[in-house]
Amino acid sequence: MQKLLIKGRKELSGNILISGSKNSTLPILAASLLATDVKLTNVPLVKDIFTMCKLLKFIGISIKIKKSNKTIHLKQKTNIKTLAPYKLVKTMRAGVLVLGPLLTKFKKAKVSLPGGCAIGTRPVDLHLFALKKLGAKIKIKDGYIIADASKGLKGAKIKFPLVSVGATENALLAAYGAKGKTVLSNCAIEPEILDLISFLKKLGSDIKIFGRTITIIGKSPKNKKINHKIIFDRIEAGTYLIAGALLGKKIVIKKIDPKTLIFEINILKKMGIKIITSKNSISISRTNNLKKIELITKPYPGFPTDLQAQFMVLMTQANGLSKIKENIFENRFMHVPELKRMGAKIEIKNKTAYVYGPSNLNGAEVMATDLRASVCLVLAGLIANNRTIINRIYHLDRGYEFLEKKFQNCKAEIKRI
Ligand code: UD1
Repeated sequence: MQKLLIKGRKELSGNILISGSKNSTLPILAASLLATDVKLTNVPLVKDIFTMCKLLKFIGISIKIKKSNKTIHLKQKTNIKTLAPYKLVKTMRAGVLVLGPLLTKFKKAKVSLPGGCAIGTRPVDLHLFALKKLGAKIKIKDGYIIADASKGLKGAKIKFPLVSVGATENALLAAYGAKGKTVLSNCAIEPEILDLISFLKKLGSDIKIFGRTITIIGKSPKNKKINHKIIFDRIEAGTYLIAGALLGKKIVIKKIDPKTLIFEINILKKMGIKIITSKNSISISRTNNLKKIELITKPYPGFPTDLQAQFMVLMTQANGLSKIKENIFENRFMHVPELKRMGAKIEIKNKTAYVYGPSNLNGAEVMATDLRASVCLVLAGLIANNRTIINRIYHLDRGYEFLEKKFQNCKAEIKRI
């Protein structure tokens, strides 16, 4: 099994080019079921994307991935299976996003329940709640969601009891082909959702957004040929920003619109870090006297849960007691025991981690538990004394494109063994 070996405490300098967003590509790949010929560019070449492509191939889409220019070309064949089997959904929850488009276009779907994962139980009840409101008949049998819309879906007013990225996406994808008007309220409005909406608009959809309310007038899925460029990955950019704040002589993060990271940039500035932004880049350097900070994870435009673990590493280097409350997932502090093994002083009470800094981290052999926890251990290894070995890096490969290469280009000592 592959591991990452890091020799810490090396100053970083150089440019980092941000890749396309994984969380944007996944729902847009599912949305491609609504078209007949789709060309996606700026796609990140990471494991989750290949898994989604495998699932679409199984369903009956012909897929050509051109790695050299990060393009995926999808063409719908005539023989479509409306099934998403367990083996293709269990490793990647986003597989459940094929439910909405299959149901709206082919009037039925059988999709495996994705099950829990390391960071929490992650149910799909809100996805099903929305689809039922649109008129789908749904039952759960043998671990599968069996959905039927033989009479077609019908527009409805749906208010989500809590904000969910995936449920908003599945509801949008189903409402695309529902008859009449759908009004979704208390929606997630992450930039990745806006990217999905811009894709659906290219497919002819009439969609309007006002705050957390999204209105969509249904269309019958057309034989359409469309091109779409995926937005850049704000979570990847946020991760490298923290690397720059920890060790940067000067790191320039390119191909990212700083506006999508305003909240995070303001936090870093409050902590005393120097940041200069331009239209499509962010330049960042480390500072010696980091101020403590208190954060709470919230849906966009709040502080993202996907950057919680990375910010915690930064907190270990700040002066005094920093706090971070995880409000989205119930079990997303799996990185804490590993950080503590490296010398971090962290206590968890209820949903809050109390981080006492600054502490000197020491290299150790550690275990990655999920995607963002893995990258937080990389950041910890980069600032620690001596060597850090990170096991189970397949988690990292699910969502970070060319991670070692990007760090090596900035003079970090990191390699895969
Ligand atoms: C997406 C992102 C993930 C990110 C998360 C929150 C993708 C592929 N993944 O995941 O990286 O961490 O948003 O920003 O885009 N919930 C329910 N019932 C449901 C659905 C969700 O109770 O039917 C709960 C979840 O357990 C969680 C919260 O709602 O506590 C938010 O989850 P959600 O926004 O749905 O996350 P994902 O779409 O799975």
